Amino acid sequence: MIDIHCHILPGIDDGPAEIDESVEMCRMAASDGVTVIVATPHFTPGQYMAGSARVYEEASRLSAALRRLDIPIKIFTGADVAISPEVPVQLRSVGHLTINGAGRYFLAEFPHTHVPPNWDGFLLSIAASGITPVITHPERNLWFMNHPEALYPVVAKGVLVQITAMSLTGEFGEQAQEVSLYLLRHNLAHVIATDAHSATYRPPILSEAADMVADLFGRDKADRLVRTAPAAIVEGRPVSFEEPIVPSGSKAGLF
Ligand SMILES: [Fe+2]
Repeated sequence: MIDIHCHILPGIDDGPAEIDESVEMCRMAASDGVTVIVATPHFTPGQYMAGSARVYEEASRLSAALRRLDIPIKIFTGADVAISPEVPVQLRSVGHLTINGAGRYFLAEFPHTHVPPNWDGFLLSIAASGITPVITHPERNLWFMNHPEALYPVVAKGVLVQITAMSLTGEFGEQAQEVSLYLLRHNLAHVIATDAHSATYRPPILSEAADMVADLFGRDKADRLVRTAPAAIVEGRPVSFEEPIVPSGSKAGLF
């Protein structure tokens, strides 16, 4: 499996503080069946602003440790990019912000409580410039939780959506789980990732969510979410996905 959203680099954001914990997280991921991790530290101007040189340096330090310890995980770089008006400029000037530096996909993170006005037009304009946004965990954003159907028009135009493994398995509460299932039922989610931050309270485990999707929707869909789509994203290729289903009515009936 391939995890495209993981706070695995030490001492850069609110992920692991030391490389020992990063290594421990990789060990857990490897025994869970993960072979590739995209290291995606927060890029939130004013709060977390590690530059590309630092990110590349930590990623190669971690890769070297994994080779030394024989832990079969490949590390690529990316970032968890906080959405702001500056993002289009940042994507072109800060090398590590797109996944695997390919200039093709980036993780787009909204605040937890709301979305900015014209969020949809803004993302579509970035997509039109050739860099496809992957919206991270809308099922944990208060506004999307109440308006999951609002994702349909942007997904229909090519924007991608990532849901978090622990949302599906219920650790972020019932509503995040329900919204995750809603998104899967309507083909409005393309990738499951861990968004792991630690070896303990937010571990890099993907298999439980993948197995749950396999039970509910079939193994093909699970494989698409944790293998095929993330592989295409890492390699900068187009993602093939099931046509989104027009949500009937609004969120009414969801809860
Ligand atoms: Fe994240």
